[in-house]
Amino acid sequence: MTEFKPLVFSGVQPTGNLHLGNYLGAIRKFVALQENNDCIYCVVDMHALTAQLVHEDMPTQIRSITAAFLAAGIDPKKHIVFNQSQVPQHAELAWIFNCVARIGWMNRMTQFKDKAGKDREQASLGLYAYPSLMAADILVYRATHVPVGDDQKQHLELARDIAMKFNLDFHDKIVPTGLGIDIKVGEEPVHAYFPMVEPLIDGPAPRVMSLKDGTKKMSKSDPSDLSRINLMDDQEAISKKIRKAKTDPDALPSETEGLKGRPEADNLVGIFAALADKSKADVLSEFGGQQFSVFKPALIDLAVEVLAPINAEMRRLMEDPGHIDAVLRDGGERARNRAEKTMNEVRDIIGFVR
Ligand code: TRP
Repeated sequence: MTEFKPLVFSGVQPTGNLHLGNYLGAIRKFVALQENNDCIYCVVDMHALTAQLVHEDMPTQIRSITAAFLAAGIDPKKHIVFNQSQVPQHAELAWIFNCVARIGWMNRMTQFKDKAGKDREQASLGLYAYPSLMAADILVYRATHVPVGDDQKQHLELARDIAMKFNLDFHDKIVPTGLGIDIKVGEEPVHAYFPMVEPLIDGPAPRVMSLKDGTKKMSKSDPSDLSRINLMDDQEAISKKIRKAKTDPDALPSETEGLKGRPEADNLVGIFAALADKSKADVLSEFGGQQFSVFKPALIDLAVEVLAPINAEMRRLMEDPGHIDAVLRDGGERARNRAEKTMNEVRDIIGFVR
């Protein structure tokens, strides 16, 4: 049985500043995956229009995500780094997927409901179709593995549903053209054009919480800047935010069990563990019984040690936008070649004359 060649794809929206949650939850995973995989990392600028059409400084936003990718250690020569709008095949495949996906499927998307809020009539059509474009991002390369946060799980299930319906509905066109590949879906062998994408959710810290409220996710839209550590924060800002982070009055426990019901302590220990590449249990065996007055300075030192070089490299890169744009153009061209190959096959499967 042939199988799809493993290929990693992920995307990050160019909206707002990247923070520690994005770094530990996503970008660090991207960096690790490039060791053993072919990877495509995309700044999804077309997705950025779905919630808000006009952006104050779109080029800077796109470049700063790119700079974060590069500063964190993604190699744009061995892999592909580009911005979505340079590869119009994403939008083209998304149109076809809009005709594959059913309205009932889209209506179940919890992120749409959250983002559209009460006045759903005023949400853009793009926000509604967002998951279809996301499926196209991945499947236009026939990518197989997608590192994302757990909030994106439902969108990846939709991508599988779209792939499956396309495979089944066009089965009689895929088989004679010889374009499909035999894959296993559960126990069943299926001849498929698109793979069933696998989410890669686990990571060093899948959920980094707000420094002000351990029950809320660290978020770029939180009005308090003290709630998050931004990748562009300097040493002074990092120490101030950790010093002011909410805690409880107790000492740290010696076992992870003791973190139950203590969301702020759990979050800070989790951040320490992720930054140090250790387990929470390791961190607690070192700091169990200590007060936050001891733990916080150690966390500040560690956070500065890990983040300062990334911060410095991002600033250096941002001073040379021409270089960043050249990286994106080069990645865009290589991505376009791959995407166009898929689109030609999709056009043939559908029966578009070309
Ligand atoms: N929806 C993703 C997020 O908000 C961003 C994204 C767009 C993405 N297209 C993608 C992630 C394709 C993975 C694969 O995080």
